[in-house]
Amino acid sequence: MTYHILISDPLSEEGMAPLTQADDFAVTVDTGLTEAEIIQKISNFHALLVRSQTTVTRAIMEAAPNLKVIGRAGVGVDNIDLEAATELGIVVVNAPDGNTNSAAEHTVAMMMSLARNIPQAFLALKEERWERKQHIGVELKGKTLGIVGMGRIGAEVAYRAKGQRMDVIAYDPFLTKDRAVKMGIGYGTLEEVLAASDFLTVHTPLLKETHHMISTEAFAQMKGGVQILNCARGGIIDEDALYEAIISGKVAGAALDVFEEEPAVHHKLLELPQVIATPHLGASTVEAQENVAIDVSKDVMQILQGGQAIHP
Ligand code: NAD
Ligand code: MLT
Repeated sequence: MTYHILISDPLSEEGMAPLTQADDFAVTVDTGLTEAEIIQKISNFHALLVRSQTTVTRAIMEAAPNLKVIGRAGVGVDNIDLEAATELGIVVVNAPDGNTNSAAEHTVAMMMSLARNIPQAFLALKEERWERKQHIGVELKGKTLGIVGMGRIGAEVAYRAKGQRMDVIAYDPFLTKDRAVKMGIGYGTLEEVLAASDFLTVHTPLLKETHHMISTEAFAQMKGGVQILNCARGGIIDEDALYEAIISGKVAGAALDVFEEEPAVHHKLLELPQVIATPHLGASTVEAQENVAIDVSKDVMQILQGGQAIHP
């Protein structure tokens, strides 16, 4: 039997090799499709592979009687209607650790850029302004980095921040005292972490409990001059509250890789000189894209051939 696989977002070609080089799998790459176009196309496919651009809706799944598995080449499955997949008996797999390193490195790059105003200074130079006194930064050494969410990426950020000689304090309901001690970091309640941080970075999934967990109320508990990072998911930080906190001077700067609505090209936060941003690039490295594509390809092959997923 030949299994038909539709790939509807750009995925690493090298990473797809397990699928494209195997017998019995016919791969169609067709990216940038609308929901209606996918619905029109999908009836004969056995698997659908996506990254972040495709939202896999109930309507897509209902138009796909042969669909056995949906693979998401990234962490989490927030662009897939899980309830519909469960009802329709479609297995959903993801790639939870293939991009951990890249996301952590991106977070640290953003923190260093924020501390030293590198994007703002570069922009001025591109516009032929030699600005020096406008871009006085701060050192990371001796500052406290608060981490909310000490999972895979949070932990990698913590190790790197210690390399910058920062003090690290974390909040995660599953962080034990033992683990914190082993990692050489502090731990506390969310309130304690908010109050202690010079830089605050969030690394939780976007859930009902984490939606707007960094709100007006949370900003009120922070030090004046705190700098905020979100390289996890748009919506963990309340963007209106962040905007107000920057305007009021409570927050000195923010580095954002993710937004509540993406693409976020005309966003009021981007008008503020204190805000630096990237267009959801945390996982955008050759290595990460290859890793996640390999992981989902292998799982999809296993499932179609009647086996078990490694990353359910
Ligand atoms: P993970 O599952 O390993 O870790 C998430 C951690 O958050 C867990 O330890 C969990 O206990 C903790 N958590 C859950 N609810 C919490 C709460 N209310 N308060 C505090 N902590 C809470 O996930 P990960 O791989 O480390 O990914 C973290 C985030 O980064 C996810 O949102 C993921 O989607 C995102 N991400 C973004 C990019 C990007 O391109 N910017 C790339 C990869 C991952
Ligand atoms: C992820 O969740 O893994 C990331 O946001 C990766 C991405 O799709 O860019």
